[in-house]
Amino acid sequence: MNENNIEWTKLAETISFEKEPEQLHKVKRDDIFIVKDEDGYHAINNRCPHLGLALNVGGCNKKDKTVHCKFHSSDFSYDTGEVKAWLNIKGFEKFMIWLFSKFDADAKKMMTMEPKPVETFPTKIADDHVWIGIDQSN
Ligand code: FES
Repeated sequence: MNENNIEWTKLAETISFEKEPEQLHKVKRDDIFIVKDEDGYHAINNRCPHLGLALNVGGCNKKDKTVHCKFHSSDFSYDTGEVKAWLNIKGFEKFMIWLFSKFDADAKKMMTMEPKPVETFPTKIADDHVWIGIDQSN
């Protein structure tokens, strides 16, 4: 990441995270999910890298620093973006997806995708606000 190509966007007052430690903010066309934990502020793209569904609705595990995608049970580090679990579907739901995949090529493709990390963004605190940096060179 080239520091000179980063555009910083002011998001929310730091004090607002005391009541609401997980927040969703729109930055241009992206929804950015901000998680505050004991180490500070972490920013990720709210789109799950699997099918693009919303990550914020699945909840966070602050101990593991992960966010859970509730749609197909994947977990990502909200700190590094790393995949911690990918399509960890079990039981009847797994059987139904397997069955569906037998007859639908698109469904099969969706459920055999290679793991992809979630996009992360640097954060900083200035003027009592949380800012995120977006690399403009991408
Ligand atoms: S959309 Fe997140 S795991 Fe499928």
